[in-house]
Amino acid sequence: MNLPFTEPFKIKMVENIYRSTREQRETWIKEASFNLFNLRSEQVFIDLLTDSGTGAMSDKQWSEIMVGDESYAGASSYYKLKEAIKEITGFSYFLPTHQGRAAENVLFSVLVKEGDVVPGNSHFDTTKGHIEFRKARAVDCTVDIAADTSTFHPFKGNVDIEKLEKVLISNPADKISCIIITITNNSAGGQPVSMENIREVRKLSLKYGVKLIIDSARFAENAYFIKLREDGYAGKEIRDIVAEMFSYADGMTMSSKKDAIVNMGGFIGLKDEELFRQASTFNIIYEGFITYGGMSGRDMNALARGLYEGTEFEYLESRINQVAYLGTKMKEYGIPVLEPFGGHAIFIDAKKFLPDISKEEFPAQTLAIEIYLEGGVRAVEIGALMADRDPVTRENRFPELEIVRLALPRRVYTNNHMDYVAASVKNVFDRRDKIKKGVKITGEAPIMRHFTVKLERI
Ligand code: F0G
Repeated sequence: MNLPFTEPFKIKMVENIYRSTREQRETWIKEASFNLFNLRSEQVFIDLLTDSGTGAMSDKQWSEIMVGDESYAGASSYYKLKEAIKEITGFSYFLPTHQGRAAENVLFSVLVKEGDVVPGNSHFDTTKGHIEFRKARAVDCTVDIAADTSTFHPFKGNVDIEKLEKVLISNPADKISCIIITITNNSAGGQPVSMENIREVRKLSLKYGVKLIIDSARFAENAYFIKLREDGYAGKEIRDIVAEMFSYADGMTMSSKKDAIVNMGGFIGLKDEELFRQASTFNIIYEGFITYGGMSGRDMNALARGLYEGTEFEYLESRINQVAYLGTKMKEYGIPVLEPFGGHAIFIDAKKFLPDISKEEFPAQTLAIEIYLEGGVRAVEIGALMADRDPVTRENRFPELEIVRLALPRRVYTNNHMDYVAASVKNVFDRRDKIKKGVKITGEAPIMRHFTVKLERI
């Protein structure tokens, strides 16, 4: 008999979570204006809002916390992190930031100016936010198959090379801030980008003289998928695949809260010293001196260690298998989930789940609310609410994909929790015909509205 698959770790510390009644949840969600971001964490039983900053650090990472060097300048923790980043990503220059969007803010302060275009595969919402805030335009060049939620394709996160070249041909190089590849492609369902695709994008970036930046939040999960799905990579180590991916880029922005398994932190990695020098000034203004930029020494220590742990094959295998475990269960129940399953999350196709709810009534948000009411499980809408309004016309944008994301924190929940989550969604699925009305907006911010939006049931 084959020995069953297990996690390569055991649990040393536990944190209680609390069940609630449906009546309580009805009250709480109303008080939260039907926005799941407004719930208190105690009002949630299983929290799949995000995999960002919600992972469990290892005993080794916690021990690193105790030996952090809190010197303002030149801390040993900075050098430890610098070394880890160089070893794992290959980038010689790096700037610490307090999280991923701060890395975007600092780097884009140098690269992005008014009137620019920034092509890439589906830009994450903070990335798009930082681009549009500077009155530049993010152009989504994701492959069309990404919008097809059921057909199998190994690399649905890919950049469509023809779409990208069109943007590069029709704009002068000095109007293109950079090309951004997001690995994995979060907004398209945690889908990976192939090495071949990264290589092709690199060719175009060199041909047109435009920098290539990798938004790297889930770079290790991307490398895992390359190892499993791309010809020629099965026998390669995760770290070698990671090094090759980054070798094609001029720089990276990183939200360390994902694949580096820390609760807070980010960084910029760069090849070019001049760009590093320019970005350093903004880092000092926005984040802090260049040897700590928004991070304490202890957190840089834990991050350095997390970069190694997050790129271990056995860890990645157990993580991505847990996501697939949840996806398989939900699929068995007939729930329309996006396939192939993502690296960090399972995505439910809300248009298929609730076909009677029009896009103007935000089906994905409606479904996320129902899942919360059912079992106290918190998910997140990735659809028209998150897509915001068009910055010029102020019309609502309705993206192709209207989905609910169940993102799995790293090393936090067991498969029993996954069974509970799948059962909660199944119960909503069984009564989906009775869900006839969605929600409407009663208050919203001008940009990144989904975090604070106020909603009402129709
Ligand atoms: N890039 C990607 C691909 C992301 O998924 C995120 C964050 C960021 C950048 C920004 O990083 O949060 O550290 O400032 N994604 C989280 C999520 C919030 O839930 O997917 P940050």
